[in-house]
Amino acid sequence: MSHEPTRRACLSATAGFLLAATGWGAKAGAQGADASLARVAAEAGRYYGSAVRIDRIAADDQYREAILRECAYLTPESEMKWDAVERIRGEPALAPIDDLMSFARANEMKVRGHTLLWHRSVPDWAGDFLLERKDWSPIRNYFSDVISRYGDAIEQWDVVNEPIDTGHRMDGLRENVFLRAFGPDYIRRALEDARMLAPRASLMINEYGLDYDIPVEQDRRYLFLKLLERLRSAGAPLDAVGVQGHLDLAKGPFSPKVFGDFLQEIANLGLEIIITELDVKEYDYRAPPEERDRRVAEEVKRYLDVAFAQPAVKGLTSWGLSDRYSWLEITAEDYARYPGVWKQGDGPGVNRGLPLDASMRRKPMYRAIEAAFRRQPLG
Ligand code: XIL
Repeated sequence: MSHEPTRRACLSATAGFLLAATGWGAKAGAQGADASLARVAAEAGRYYGSAVRIDRIAADDQYREAILRECAYLTPESEMKWDAVERIRGEPALAPIDDLMSFARANEMKVRGHTLLWHRSVPDWAGDFLLERKDWSPIRNYFSDVISRYGDAIEQWDVVNEPIDTGHRMDGLRENVFLRAFGPDYIRRALEDARMLAPRASLMINEYGLDYDIPVEQDRRYLFLKLLERLRSAGAPLDAVGVQGHLDLAKGPFSPKVFGDFLQEIANLGLEIIITELDVKEYDYRAPPEERDRRVAEEVKRYLDVAFAQPAVKGLTSWGLSDRYSWLEITAEDYARYPGVWKQGDGPGVNRGLPLDASMRRKPMYRAIEAAFRRQPLG
């Protein structure tokens, strides 16, 4: 896909964004030192993209330019979730996602359909309704609102997000509203419905906590693989798996063998894999920024070297591009770990777990991603 030289930014007039069309062009098509992650990934036979928010794209020129320069894929951070689309029953609010789609189309970028069924994005009215009536029609209507509207323009759908939970049920399924209303078969049913509406799209299940060699994640991997096997043998229309990849410097160890074997088992089921939400939560915020950036980059290198050794891994999207808008916050707990280190009103800044810093400069994490793509291109 040669998206770069022709890029121009555009948002639908419906949003009323007063944005000049000139001056939006990214420094696209640049070579060598200025190569972008989109380009490096494409040269390696994969793709790179990021979660974005359309309101920020509209409001922040620097951010928009960075997105245009670096990304071939966009994931709506929340615009497509059920509670964003249908806060009021039967009144789908699709303007933000329409704008995101127009922006992507105008700039020849692709969009991931994220995410249809997620326990954390069920509108209030729907939770009660599903449980009381055990009636699937609100789900069908929501699917039809978003899938039919964007149809072929979206090639990948996260149909079910985060269905695994340990410690409750033998089958490892999260006791979310969908499970309580419809039983474990809700996943197959959702996939079937999505397939009817998007016959050509890649239908996915997206999951977190699959990365580290610790007991809870060992269990999660096992239960996730079992779920995939069950869906496969039931003939469910599942094409790919999203491994979120929210890395965490407080967690560990990371075992290349364990994680690599896990990806291989997914591949053995005939499923493709996307690393869908890469970012790194830091732990020790006292270190100098250079050291913090080094640790983050090191973690990403270890992880992606295993991921990109697996040919079933087709792409990578990070959960944000710049630390300016990271969803990872430095929490009160983080501060409490180091009493007296920072004076009132002072602090370690933002979490530094995304490829660009808060000033949109490329960080060691960016270089780690770039190098990982280059080291192991798809054959
Ligand atoms: C998060 C967004 O980043 C937040 O802005 C929102 O409030 C909650 O959801 N896993 C997912 C994403 O699959 O959809 C989540 O996104 C982050 C965790």
